[in-house]
Amino acid sequence: MSATATKDGGSVTITLNGTNKSLTIPLIDGTIGPSVFDIRKLYNELGVFTYDPGYGGTAACESKITYIDGDVGVLLHRGYPIEQLAEKSSFLEVSYLLLNGELPDKAQKAEFERGVMMHTMLHEQLRRFYDGFRRDAHPMAVMCGVVGAMSAFYHDSLDINDPDHRRISAFRLIAKMPTIAAWAYKYSIGQPFMYPRNDLSYAENFLYMMNAVPAEDYKVSPVLARAMDRIFILHADHEQNASTSTVRLSGSTGANPFACIAAGIASLWGPAHGGANEAVLKMLAEIGHKDNIPAFLAGVKDKNGHNRLMGFGHRVYKNYDPRAKIMQASCHEVLKELGHQDDPLLELAMELEKIALHDEYFVSRKLYPNVDFYSGIILKAMGFPTSMFTVLFAVARTVGWISQWKEMIEDPSQRIGRPRQVYTGATQRDYIALDKRA
Ligand code: CMC
Repeated sequence: MSATATKDGGSVTITLNGTNKSLTIPLIDGTIGPSVFDIRKLYNELGVFTYDPGYGGTAACESKITYIDGDVGVLLHRGYPIEQLAEKSSFLEVSYLLLNGELPDKAQKAEFERGVMMHTMLHEQLRRFYDGFRRDAHPMAVMCGVVGAMSAFYHDSLDINDPDHRRISAFRLIAKMPTIAAWAYKYSIGQPFMYPRNDLSYAENFLYMMNAVPAEDYKVSPVLARAMDRIFILHADHEQNASTSTVRLSGSTGANPFACIAAGIASLWGPAHGGANEAVLKMLAEIGHKDNIPAFLAGVKDKNGHNRLMGFGHRVYKNYDPRAKIMQASCHEVLKELGHQDDPLLELAMELEKIALHDEYFVSRKLYPNVDFYSGIILKAMGFPTSMFTVLFAVARTVGWISQWKEMIEDPSQRIGRPRQVYTGATQRDYIALDKRA
């Protein structure tokens, strides 16, 4: 089968050759960014699908939350540049913005913060779930299990068609994720769980639950709390990435938000996505010394090899990831504050970045550092074990997931997500009895 496409102003008309079938495909414009062809009638009118593995050329939804211009390295949340939010805002204020579309006034901000912080405790029975895991379980495995189990505990906010239920579920998820994450860590090291403290800020409370023990007083460092808050802001949302698309796809079936966020956590875990920050540190440890960088990069560039330069490259950014720039600056600040200016890992990462950015392989493919390249170094300096890095990403991304889920549920054009395929398997054939098979 072949087709002819003719352009007419903004639209394109596709005619299937040898038939009398044709369809005019209109273009839809966004407020900024590329326009999209509206192919919704394609199958019904022409009987063909589009083919786009990895969705590199497909807009799966309309959204007003986050905008990325990957060619120049711009990231906007509800129109506000990430640089301004990271410098001037706080994680809970950004959460309000993502969920509600506008920055809050003073009263709205205070009410939202109180609303979230009122939900930080977990149902006491959820504590017992932890005992069912091995002590050496990866904390992301614990997160998938405990967050999925939330739908077995919070029955009073499961009606996805009730706006109040949606709001309370959002509060619960944003508020309880730090508790679930910190307890996963405490369980792995055999220390008592620390209950949340609502007199602390969101980031302070998280650091407190991670680091305090009942036997001693613990003072949260304001510098580390600020760095933590900024790391949360930088990971809060990133439009239709793999885990967010997973949340939307799960949610499109009418599944409850706790189940959908558990699905998002599972998707985030992979090394091509949120697991990259953990992989970056493993990679730096493997390289060991700057003298070994050329040999490591030669392995990365080898077509027959399986190594990638972790923390480099992005499906959308074909320029420096703006989050990576902020993360790099933050990294210097935090290491200075902690007296680790000469951190050999940071030196190695910077050298690796410098060499890669001058290497034809990376230049020609437009591979730049992404958010994960420097985040692991800060987190390590702040005392987090490597296995917790992706967990912190999940804590922060929860607000993005739930904002995108809420937007989808409130979109009247929302339907169940159901991609199609090009089938290349066997054509119809008759069953062969076992004794007749060759
Ligand atoms: N190291 C070496 N080569 C790379 C890398 C890399 N990190 N990333 C892409 N390439 C090469 C790839 O081999 C391909 O080369 P060729 O055209 O010769 O076959 C070309 O660049 C295009 O790559 P792709 O796999 O088609 O790109 P993609 O858009 O499908 O993948 C990515 C995007 C992020 C999965 C990939 O760049 C990658 O694996 N990066 C390392 C993992 C990482 O840092 N992930 C974090 C992403 S940002 C945070 C997040 O989303 O969670």
